[in-house]
Amino acid sequence: MKHKMAIIGYGGMAHHHKDALAGYDRAEFKGMYDLDPEVMEKVKKEGFYPYSSKEELLTDKEIDCVLIATTNEVHKSLAIEAMAAGKNVICEKPVTVSSAELEEIMEASKKYKKVFTIDQNRRTNRDFVLMRRKVEEGLLGDVYVIESRVEGSRGMPKGWRTLKRLGGGMMLAWGVHLIDQLMYMYEGVKVTNVFCKMFSIQYPEVDDNFRLTMTFENGVVAHIENSTNNYITHPRWYVLGTEGTLQIDDWNCNGRIVRCIDKEDEWAEEIFYTKAGPTKTMAPRSANSTETITISEPTDVVDNLTVVYNQFLDAVEGKAPLTITAEQALRVMKVMEAAFESAREETAVKTCI
Ligand SMILES: NC(=O)c1ccc[n+]([C@@H]2O[C@H](COP(=O)([O-])OP(=O)(O)OC[C@H]3O[C@@H](n4cnc5c(N)ncnc54)[C@H](O)[C@@H]3O)[C@@H](O)[C@H]2O)c1
Repeated sequence: MKHKMAIIGYGGMAHHHKDALAGYDRAEFKGMYDLDPEVMEKVKKEGFYPYSSKEELLTDKEIDCVLIATTNEVHKSLAIEAMAAGKNVICEKPVTVSSAELEEIMEASKKYKKVFTIDQNRRTNRDFVLMRRKVEEGLLGDVYVIESRVEGSRGMPKGWRTLKRLGGGMMLAWGVHLIDQLMYMYEGVKVTNVFCKMFSIQYPEVDDNFRLTMTFENGVVAHIENSTNNYITHPRWYVLGTEGTLQIDDWNCNGRIVRCIDKEDEWAEEIFYTKAGPTKTMAPRSANSTETITISEPTDVVDNLTVVYNQFLDAVEGKAPLTITAEQALRVMKVMEAAFESAREETAVKTCI
């Protein structure tokens, strides 16, 4: 059976969904509804059914699944209305603008017995999968620091992303992905401490840069930086383990691991002289005491939106439970709330999330 779907909110991201489902055998979009009349003209031109209202869309019996891809402040009300109308829902991230709102959605999903999932599509990004695999292979020994950075220099796009009341800011835009990746990697491991510094370089109302440090109960410290004002960028991933260091430079997965192979590397007696003065601690290692392993893009990883749709439709068809759940999204929302509190109060926040 091919599911017929409809979209509420047909902007940039919804177009990406439409393109991703072209040729997909499990679902297709019948039509769209958007508040903007110009967007509705585009819907007509593209040959999709132009719903004249949200109500017309939600009462269309042919539709069993709805994608919500509007601005963030209306995700909650639309998701609940859609499920009350008997539709299963995929909602764009951030799922809502608060954990309390998400809890209302979770209640509605139970009440109306409808599947609700979130487009946390960056769990299959190859740079993340590569980092995770290498950590789990144990090549680095016990990992104690993971640094994750996504940085640009062009500021934030104008419009709703710069407005708090519409769910703008980089924490809700990118933070939600970067936190989700690490909480998915350490599923079931509690976050015990959150410290965050936010900056509003270009837009005073929202965070357009942030630095977040979160501590997991297993001792791993994750440091996440997201910026729109970095003219020189850091590597995408930088990971420290007891036996080695991993660096992945970019989304193309160019990277390497340097591992210690000779722990017996004795301290030289003599002091090493650098341009910055003498040092023993920071002297270079002897040539054969490490090995360098080049790492590269894992080509077996499927990284597109059909992964999100497959797990959603498996749940809709009763074949398998969701893999992107509201419970997982709730933990991420709570970490983001702790980050906002930390930034506001200028203090670390103890958590049990
Ligand atoms: N998963 C990802 O990687 C990713 C990437 C980009 C955006 N997003 C998310 O997708 C959503 C949309 O972002 P975008 O970049 O497409 O924004 P956008 O501004 O391009 O599109 C949003 C559209 O929603 C419409 N809209 C707003 N309120 C509406 C309502 N009540 N009813 C009907 N239409 C409504 C607007 O008219 C607009 O056309 C956001 O939640 C955003 O966070 C996710």
